[in-house]
Amino acid sequence: MTAPSITPPAGTSAPAEPSTSAPPAPDVAVAVRGVSKVFGRRPAEAMRRLAQGASRDDVKALGTAAVIDASFDVRRGEIFVVMGLSGSGKSTLIRMLNGLLKPTSGQVLIGGENLAATDAKQLRALRRSSVSMVFQHFALLPHRTVLDNAAYPLEIQGVGKAERREKARTAIELTGLGGWEDSLPSQLSGGMRQRVGLARALAADTDVLLMDEAFSALDPLIRREMQEQLIELQQRLGKTIIFITHDLNEAMHLGDRIAVMRDGRIVQIGTAEQILSDPANDYVAQFVADVDRTRVLTASSVMVRPAVVVPVTGGPRQASRAMREAQVPAAFVVDRQRVLRGVVHDDDAVAALKAGQESVEGIVRDAVTPVSPDTPLAEIFAPAAESSLPVAVTDDTGRLVGVVPRVTLLEAMVPPDQPQTDESVPGRQATDPTPDGDAPTDRVAADEGGAR
Ligand SMILES: Nc1ncnc2c1ncn2[C@@H]1O[C@H](COP(=O)(O)OP(=O)(O)OP(=O)(O)O)[C@@H](O)[C@H]1O
Ligand SMILES: [Mg+2]
Repeated sequence: MTAPSITPPAGTSAPAEPSTSAPPAPDVAVAVRGVSKVFGRRPAEAMRRLAQGASRDDVKALGTAAVIDASFDVRRGEIFVVMGLSGSGKSTLIRMLNGLLKPTSGQVLIGGENLAATDAKQLRALRRSSVSMVFQHFALLPHRTVLDNAAYPLEIQGVGKAERREKARTAIELTGLGGWEDSLPSQLSGGMRQRVGLARALAADTDVLLMDEAFSALDPLIRREMQEQLIELQQRLGKTIIFITHDLNEAMHLGDRIAVMRDGRIVQIGTAEQILSDPANDYVAQFVADVDRTRVLTASSVMVRPAVVVPVTGGPRQASRAMREAQVPAAFVVDRQRVLRGVVHDDDAVAALKAGQESVEGIVRDAVTPVSPDTPLAEIFAPAAESSLPVAVTDDTGRLVGVVPRVTLLEAMVPPDQPQTDESVPGRQATDPTPDGDAPTDRVAADEGGAR
């Protein structure tokens, strides 16, 4: 590896990352080369000391070394997560990526263009056309509708009303807020407001999205939903996403790769599995200590859509037809609010049909105890062993939000050193939806759950 502009101090294992001199490869959306940021009175002197291996603490009297010698390339279409404890330098780093902060040293290249070499006007243009940011607190304008909030960045750019509204409308559709265009932010839940924040970034149609703790203010279930939606959107639109979080679970779930920061330095960059199975140093090891994969990964990270769900108000004919079409021997039964009521089995449905019963209500059996989206995989083995049907995943209110087929659970356990044909990030692998969202693996898994 070529020596970076600042040599990492002894004892810090440097991330295997790109040389600082070579131009970025064409598939690199964002290149960060030896970037440091020192706040305070004597940044130059602090930089000299840091270059000699001083730590943030060592240079405290000279200023705050918020980011020290960060180098990484983010590939187009990648979700790159920056994770670290509070104060580790995450926000400072991301703010240098859209020019909100100027590095004390080092370079940031967006699409090959060096931010430092752009004047204020070019920088503004670049920010508008290439990089959008989604903040933790949604920064919505309270007296404007959802539509106008989403269109706001385009309005600032001087895009005409009709065009910006059309783009905003498309973005709102994408984030699942269709129908809420004319509402005011005060009429929305937190999750919906963050969707507007996301729609606003999508309306600007930039290649790169920066997200700083964007989901941290949301309650856990909405947060998972947003994570799923982000992965789906990313796959559909091919955006490059740099996502900041201090939540290990979120990092592991979202990140194609994860950079772990400590006291201003990036101490490791790798996939979730690499970081879990091969931590670069004691700090990272401690960070992920005691978490084996089955504890890091949760039901929500591997759950899939259930193959068949029938309404409790439905008839046995509807139930048996649905099971026949999906080729499964049993189906989950939910009420109007999608609250899980149990399961109905094929033979019961056929018997009820013969007996002329009008509703499946009388033949619903208890499902094996459902698990919550936060349940670690380690705790799903027991319920999964009780039945060959998938394990139901329900939220706080008992609503069915997904199922974990046994095969998915087993797949997620494949140790990283065994050859895998697919991507190596377990969460991603299991949640990848097929284009119509109705994953054939659901079918196979449920199908295999033949005998009760
Ligand atoms: N404008 C500033 N002036 C002086 N110091 C700053 C400034 N911004 C950040 N810092 C300091 O730089 C360090 C890194 O801060 P930063 O906000 O980047 O951390 P973070 O990882 O985003 O933390 P959090 O998880 O709490 O958001 C902290 O010590 C912080 O106090
Ligand atoms: Mg921060």
